[in-house]
Amino acid sequence: MSPNGARSSAEGAAPVAPGAGRDGVPEIVAARRLRRKDLLGIADLTPEEIHLILDTTDAMKEIGFRPIKKVPTLRGKTIVNLFFEPSTRTRTSFEIAEKRLSADTLNISTSTSSVQKGETLADTAMSLEAMAPDMIVLRHSSSGACHLLSRICRAGSINAGDGMHEHPTQALLDAFTIRERKGRIRGLKVAIVGDLVHSRVLRSNASLLTKLGADVWVSGPPTLMPPGVERLGVTATTSIDEAVKGADVIMMLRVQLERMQGAFFPSLREYFSVFGLTDARVRLAKPDAIIMHPGPMNRGVEIASEVADGPYSVILEQVSNGVAVRMAVLFLLAGGVEHEAAA
Ligand code: CP
Repeated sequence: MSPNGARSSAEGAAPVAPGAGRDGVPEIVAARRLRRKDLLGIADLTPEEIHLILDTTDAMKEIGFRPIKKVPTLRGKTIVNLFFEPSTRTRTSFEIAEKRLSADTLNISTSTSSVQKGETLADTAMSLEAMAPDMIVLRHSSSGACHLLSRICRAGSINAGDGMHEHPTQALLDAFTIRERKGRIRGLKVAIVGDLVHSRVLRSNASLLTKLGADVWVSGPPTLMPPGVERLGVTATTSIDEAVKGADVIMMLRVQLERMQGAFFPSLREYFSVFGLTDARVRLAKPDAIIMHPGPMNRGVEIASEVADGPYSVILEQVSNGVAVRMAVLFLLAGGVEHEAAA
């Protein structure tokens, strides 16, 4: 492993591992499955299910280092990526993950769908269901949209971010990145800082990290702090310095201007001065702290460029790990059931 956690080219050139199981998936994961058809949120998952996904991600990451990064596990499965909100990382990494598992994929976005003509999500879902896809990956601006989809569709539903509610695969890739870097999650101080009220990433991460025993602190302006945020099992403070002091992990959240009507703070310049992550603030954390951001970033608003691009940043590792995490989720929801039926 290189210092930034990436594999060297020598490691990457390794052929399919001895002991590779059926369909090119390592033997150790071939029989694994999640006993559910949907991934709607972290709130539904047990700690054991979360560990299963993270452990399976290790094996899926290995496939990404092979000369041929493709296994036939989901051959014959059809997966629809239905994105009603903009996305770069999530949509692309789901599509790469699906292709690596040999699924047939198709992408539908708002601009290319009949939503433009006034069709409802329920009617869109029923029309897609009539064409018998195996799974639908949904991003939508309304909280609960994926739950509606799962009630309508026989196909498995995967939440790729619903409004201000949940973004489960983001939290899973964040947890995988933390575990890979720190070797554990239990007992770590994780500071989540920024626009808390509009953040589905906060809700999914708070749920996951507290289930796995992390000490989670959250910080942001009072106007961007959800009322009763402590009920998520986190410690809340309006002082970023208090939140990041002694932290093992600092996770910055984007200021979501597109979800704001009216002013939540005086100016972007003032926001950066009070809540922006600067080198000086990073120095309050543990010497080996890692800096995370789900992206897209507002440089100079919630994070300084020298921090985003600096030696403690794992932001691009998060993006890389997103492919393996989504492969694990797809495999455990669909491939795992297939293996069980064939056994
Ligand atoms: N982190 C995340 O969800 O990024 P995208 O909006 O680009 O998918």
